[in-house]
Amino acid sequence: MRTISIISQKGGAGKTTLAVHLATAASIERVTLLIDTDPQATASRWGQWRGGMDPEVIDCGAPSLLGDKLSKAEALGAELVVIDTPPHADAMARQAAKLADLILVPCRPKAFDLAAIEASAELVTASKKPAFVVFMAGPPRAPLIYQEAHELITGKFGLPIAPVSLPERGAFHHSTAAGRTAPQFAPASKAAAEIAALWAWTREQVHLSTCEQAVVFA
Ligand SMILES: Nc1ncnc2c1ncn2[C@@H]1O[C@H](COP(=O)(O)OP(=O)(O)O)[C@@H](O)[C@H]1O
Ligand SMILES: [Mg+2]
Repeated sequence: MRTISIISQKGGAGKTTLAVHLATAASIERVTLLIDTDPQATASRWGQWRGGMDPEVIDCGAPSLLGDKLSKAEALGAELVVIDTPPHADAMARQAAKLADLILVPCRPKAFDLAAIEASAELVTASKKPAFVVFMAGPPRAPLIYQEAHELITGKFGLPIAPVSLPERGAFHHSTAAGRTAPQFAPASKAAAEIAALWAWTREQVHLSTCEQAVVFA
């Protein structure tokens, strides 16, 4: 079983959007569980709106319970767990980082968000786990903005950047509000292609091969 933790100490960075999209893309080919550790329970509510569609979403209210939940998930056959975490929550974020095989740090490529990434970068670096920043909700076509953000994050905070971003697209926003994901909501959209590319890259980072016997739950 592989565990991917989505961590950013900043609210509104795109953690839940990234978590539900990755977990859903993964669930098409792997037994995938999404663990919502945020008391705001956004991912759990999204899971309830789905009416039983994969991925299964469970919550976890205390950092001390997270290890047990992962062990149980593995015993029950989970191949991948995605952990969505709360903002401003050191203990839970640290525990999610400690238990992760891969950490993704969503970040808007905007000045205030870039300044606020320091706390997340410190926490993630301290865990010594493979970690990448994923740019979220930036302008779809603004290479200079991405270049500047890239230089700042790699130079100042020492975190590498994932090669796929999820720019600002209506499909990411509207789909999750309806208990769906962008590929289900708008299969031919750029957002759907971006999720496919992001999942393909992520799968390689956690050394999961493509599954020949894909089961489509959507
Ligand atoms: N790539 C994107 N395109 C459009 N809207 C986005 C994108 N990423 C996030 N959002 C929107 O930004 C808001 C905050 O995102 P969310 O995933 O809830 O952040 P967090 O979980 O870090 O607080 C939500 O309304 C979400 O729909
Ligand atoms: Mg959230």
